[in-house]
Amino acid sequence: MSRNRDETVKTVRIAEIPSVLGEEVQLQGWLYQKRSSGGIQFLILRDGSGILQAVVTKKNPEAFEAAEELTQESALKVRGVPKEDPRAPTGYELSITKLELVHRAEDYPITPKEHGPGFLLDHRHLWIRSPRQAAILRIRHEVLQAIRDFFHERGFVATEAPIFTPLSVEGTTTLFEVEYFDEKAYLSQSGQLYLEATAMALGWVYWIGPAFRAERSKTRKHLIEFWMAEAEMAYWDHERNLRLQEELVKYVVQRVLERRSEELALRERDTAPLERAVEEPFPRITYAEALEILKQKGFEIPWGEDFGAPHEEALGEHFGLPVFIEKFPARMKAFYMQPDPDDPDVVLAADLIAPEGYGEIIGGSERIHDEALLVQKLQEFGLPREPYEWYIDLRRYGSVPHAGFGLGIERTVAWLAGVQHVRECIPFPRMLYRLRP
Ligand code: 4AD
Ligand code: MG
Repeated sequence: MSRNRDETVKTVRIAEIPSVLGEEVQLQGWLYQKRSSGGIQFLILRDGSGILQAVVTKKNPEAFEAAEELTQESALKVRGVPKEDPRAPTGYELSITKLELVHRAEDYPITPKEHGPGFLLDHRHLWIRSPRQAAILRIRHEVLQAIRDFFHERGFVATEAPIFTPLSVEGTTTLFEVEYFDEKAYLSQSGQLYLEATAMALGWVYWIGPAFRAERSKTRKHLIEFWMAEAEMAYWDHERNLRLQEELVKYVVQRVLERRSEELALRERDTAPLERAVEEPFPRITYAEALEILKQKGFEIPWGEDFGAPHEEALGEHFGLPVFIEKFPARMKAFYMQPDPDDPDVVLAADLIAPEGYGEIIGGSERIHDEALLVQKLQEFGLPREPYEWYIDLRRYGSVPHAGFGLGIERTVAWLAGVQHVRECIPFPRMLYRLRP
């Protein structure tokens, strides 16, 4: 809240309205929608922090006429007195005493009528203003802040990994190659390998950063540029890795339920599955058990093959909770994963599959800490040794068991906010054949 120097009226944000009921205040925002009935005009205002219904009647001719001139997305300042009103969209209504136009918008392209997804994506720079889109971005903010708080409270050190790298982390088929002066570089697929080095320096580390995958897939779960929260812990095993992941996901879900109930309501998100995820333990099954469950549901998957979207959906539906699938065949996963001592054909890795069809939200594993085994795996996966020499070094100087994971931000937001496509869960999605705006 700030008080104008020459005025007695406080300027507040819409989010602060419940604490200033009955008091004359000023709001600064934009017109989202307008309708009139007889001598009353209803203005739906937005200011970034929320939306509010404001009313003006002919009893205030100056403001009434100014309101008549308003177009969708015009910028304005209004003064008025807010009060509770159960008929208004957010339960509050402002009676306008004064209205000042700041900038008139001409022919705003996104009108209240239905637009196709192509049109909306072309106008993403404006589409993010719509309350349903802004609500997703506020939920995203809450997810990111909750992750930072979670790790900070537990003594993790926030760190960074480079974006330009000489190597691949998650396979060579999805690398983005760029010119790096006289040599080739790739955009990072994951900060993991660098976090492993940082973990040996700082113990427990995390970062939230972008990841790039040149994936020629056009699914509702894939972006070309997405954000990941990655954690890496020295002296840590597979079992403890899963416990931490479950604790993190419960923490984030709880936080969004607590602090973003308005946004969830605006999106008409059924919160029952989210509440269940906070309260009940996440089931754990092995890859082999997942194949069995899928078989009973009519999906025959040969051992060693990855799950597709329908299989993940079936597994998520089967449990109605986030479910860990662990111990995958070594050859279908990444080179750095520690083999299970009881069965070296499988690795101590797990994916966390969200319920309700939102798919894999976390991938993690215990990492190989033995030099000879790592060198052998690099060979088996056909990777050149030179760019990984520093990574092998970590196995030469005080190597210890360690583990970590990466949580996909957009997929997590999609699940929490109940959004069908991850393209709406990031301000400016990069997708196959879409680089604009
Ligand atoms: O399973 P992924 O590929 O794991 C890694 O990159 C590890 N190196 C992470 C680590 O252990 N530090 O990716 C992790 C998560 C996935 O579970 C998924 O949620 C998300 O990142 N993800 C994507 N999200 C959107 N678009 C894509 N193309 C994604 N690829 C992965
Ligand atoms: Mg994965």
